[in-house]
Amino acid sequence: MSDKLKVAVLGGTGMVGQRFISILNNHPWFEVTTVAASPRSAGQTYEEAVGGRWKMDGEIPASVKNLVVKDVTDVKGVSADVDFVLSAVNMSKDEIKHIEEEYAKTETPVVSNNSAHRWTPDVPMIIPEINPDHMDVIEFQKKRLGTTNGFIAVKPNCSIQSYTPALTAWKEFEPYEVVATTYQAISGAGKNFEEWPEMVGNVIPFISGEEEKSEKEPLRIWGKIENGVIVPADDVKITCQCIRIPVLYGHTAAAFVKFKKNPTKEQLIEKLENFKGLPQELGLPSAPKQFIQYMQEDNRPQITLDVNYENGMGVSIGRLREDTIYDWKFVGLSHNTLRGAAGGAVECAELLKASGYINKK
Ligand SMILES: NC(=O)c1ccc[n+]([C@@H]2O[C@H](COP(=O)([O-])OP(=O)(O)OC[C@H]3O[C@@H](n4cnc5c(N)ncnc54)[C@H](OP(=O)(O)O)[C@@H]3O)[C@@H](O)[C@H]2O)c1
Repeated sequence: MSDKLKVAVLGGTGMVGQRFISILNNHPWFEVTTVAASPRSAGQTYEEAVGGRWKMDGEIPASVKNLVVKDVTDVKGVSADVDFVLSAVNMSKDEIKHIEEEYAKTETPVVSNNSAHRWTPDVPMIIPEINPDHMDVIEFQKKRLGTTNGFIAVKPNCSIQSYTPALTAWKEFEPYEVVATTYQAISGAGKNFEEWPEMVGNVIPFISGEEEKSEKEPLRIWGKIENGVIVPADDVKITCQCIRIPVLYGHTAAAFVKFKKNPTKEQLIEKLENFKGLPQELGLPSAPKQFIQYMQEDNRPQITLDVNYENGMGVSIGRLREDTIYDWKFVGLSHNTLRGAAGGAVECAELLKASGYINKK
């Protein structure tokens, strides 16, 4: 029998779910043994349910294609044979909140890609390189849920990951005002160009709810645990515009920053390049060796050349230069469905396993 932890992917037929299944193929610690989706897919094999919707490179992994898809709402049936679940379902926020708690209450840890619990005060929202200490709030959450092993952990929105790592690396220079514009790929909406032909050669200046997430979620990532809840930081103001652009994968951000201290360009680059976190120390399977790279060339980072840096788990920063109104400006790039979604959630699950929060049932 395999020593690997068994995982169910909730929403496994969707864009992020497919990404989970593709990156967990041959994962050293985890194996997908259950897939769940809507009642439309339940009862069919994974291959039948996905049909022509498979969007990943390569074939559907052989270990998954014949699994019979279960109904996400069959919480007992789905959780019975797995050690934890990865969640990427597209239901209403209230439905997701409810169902993820139902899973946790079966003593099944939930690592979620969804936004529903990102502001639940005792649910940690984790970028493993930045705030692994937020795992400590899980004990308080378990008390509220009345569980011994079941809990929910989430990862933040994809948009923040192209500028938040750099701002974190620069924390000692006390950034206090940030203006950012994000240029976001269409896969962030779960679509490709066949499904969204209107995006070819187009730019759409609106992504519902994205600006609020982009402005507020970094503050929660930098927050502290007080009295059993995460209290967001309040020492940085961020304002953001989020634009959809005709690119399949990769979110780019152009950001302007004011600092209370006065760093030099060399100091800023040095902090980026030497930034390391617990995933690098622990050698987690999905952790990039180099989390942030600085690119000296004036025309980098570029989507086509740099989006897959460190298997899509690293962040590329470039064009760092002094500004006439703000102190410094830069451009950041991260992969929205790897670092920004499924990859970030898998790295979070690895961190939780390595820290003793996810175990064999
Ligand atoms: N795409 C991204 O880059 C990205 C990034 C960050 C966060 N997210 C979030 O991640 C979640 C999934 O996104 P996605 O792009 O993968 O969506 P998607 O491609 O539309 O997939 C949605 C999944 O949810 C299932 N589902 C839909 N309605 C359901 C229902 N009523 N009951 C149970 N299951 C249901 C679908 O099953 P069927 O196949 O049976 O319909 C499918 O497996 C969303 O909450 C989204 O906001 C996405």
